[in-house]
Amino acid sequence: MKRVIADVVLGLQAGDEGKGKVVHSLASSGDYTHVMRFNGGSNAGHTIYHNGEKFVTHLVPAGVFYGIKSIVGGGCVVDIMKLVKEIRVLEKAGIDASSLVRVASNAHAVQTSHINEEAGESAIGTTRTGNGPAYRDKHARSGMRVEDSRTLESLLVDPYDELWKSEGDSVVLMEGAQGFGLDIDWGDYPYVSSSNCTVAAAVGAGVPPQNVRRVIGVAKPYVTYVGAKEFAGDHPALSEIQRVGAEFGATTGRPRQCNWLNLPELVKAANVNGVHELIFNKTDVFEEVGVFQVIVNDQGGNAEFESIDDFKAFVKNYLMLSCPALEKIVWSSSPDEI
Ligand code: IMP
Ligand code: MG
Repeated sequence: MKRVIADVVLGLQAGDEGKGKVVHSLASSGDYTHVMRFNGGSNAGHTIYHNGEKFVTHLVPAGVFYGIKSIVGGGCVVDIMKLVKEIRVLEKAGIDASSLVRVASNAHAVQTSHINEEAGESAIGTTRTGNGPAYRDKHARSGMRVEDSRTLESLLVDPYDELWKSEGDSVVLMEGAQGFGLDIDWGDYPYVSSSNCTVAAAVGAGVPPQNVRRVIGVAKPYVTYVGAKEFAGDHPALSEIQRVGAEFGATTGRPRQCNWLNLPELVKAANVNGVHELIFNKTDVFEEVGVFQVIVNDQGGNAEFESIDDFKAFVKNYLMLSCPALEKIVWSSSPDEI
C-alpha cells in the first residue's frame, strides 16, 4: 500500500542555523521523491553551495539542485513575483527549476498591500517581506490562496494528490524555515515570525505523524538573531564570531546579533520537536574565535571551557541527558558538506 514518509529538517534557534546546507546535503542521497518547504515565505534566506557556486534561495526548496520535485507547501505564504524571479535565476544557472518547483494550491499569496504595509515597519524588525500581514489575513479568512490568484496556474499542485496519489511511496524531505526561537507560539513573542516553525507544521503539510521517520534539528554552537530586540551579549569574542562567521542576514543584509549557545532553550526546542539528530553548523567559526562559553541555566549563568573538545563533551552530555529522543550529535563546519 502507498505510504507517505518524511524526514524533517528544522531550526532550533532563531533561524540562520544552516538548514539550507543540511537539506541540500541530504537531498544528494537520492532517498527522496520530494523536498517540501513547510512554513514561512520569502522572509527566509537559505544559503547553499552547489558545485562550488553560491545560491541564496528564499522560497524554492533545495531539492531542485538534485533534480527532485520541490514543493512550496500549503503552510507557506508565497510572494509570486519573487518565486518566479527565483526560478528564473536558478534556470539561468542551469538548474531545471521550472519543471521541478511546484506550489501547493492551498498556500497563501503575499499581496502587494502586505508588502507595502511593512515598508516602514521597525517595531519588531521584520524582514519586510509581507509575511506577517499575509498570515494575518489567512487566519482572518480574508486572504487569498495561490489557487485563486490566477498567476501561477502552471505551477500549482494539489498537495494531497501530489503526495498521496503519485506512483510509489512518497519520501519527503521537509524543509523548515526560521526556527524555534521565532516560532509564533514558542518564540519570544512578539519578536517572532508569523508561522509555526516546529515539526507540527511539517505534519500539517500532509504527512501522518507516525510516518515522520527522522527529525533533524539544526543549530550553531552560538546563537544569532536578526530583529529589533536587544540580543547580543557583551563579550568581545561575540563580535569576533559575528565577523569571522560573516553573520549577516541572507534576506536583509542586517548584522546578526550574536550570543552564547543557550542550552536550556536548545533542550526545549529539541524536546518539543522530538529531535533525533542535532547538527551544529559553523563549529569551525566558534573554534577559530577560541572562547568557549555556554549559557547553562534560565538565569543566564554561563560556563566556560578551556578547549572546544571540553565544550563539545559538556554540551553533548547535557543534551543527551535532557533530550529523550536524541540519538546523535554532529559537529559540522561551514559552509560545505556535513
Ligand atoms: P518576519 O518573519 O519578516 O515577520 O520577521 C519576524 C522576525 O523573524 C524578525 O526578527 C526577522 O528578522 C526574523 N526572521 C524571519 N525570517 C528569518 C530567517 O529566515 N532568518 C532569520 N531571522 C528571520
Ligand atoms: Mg537564513
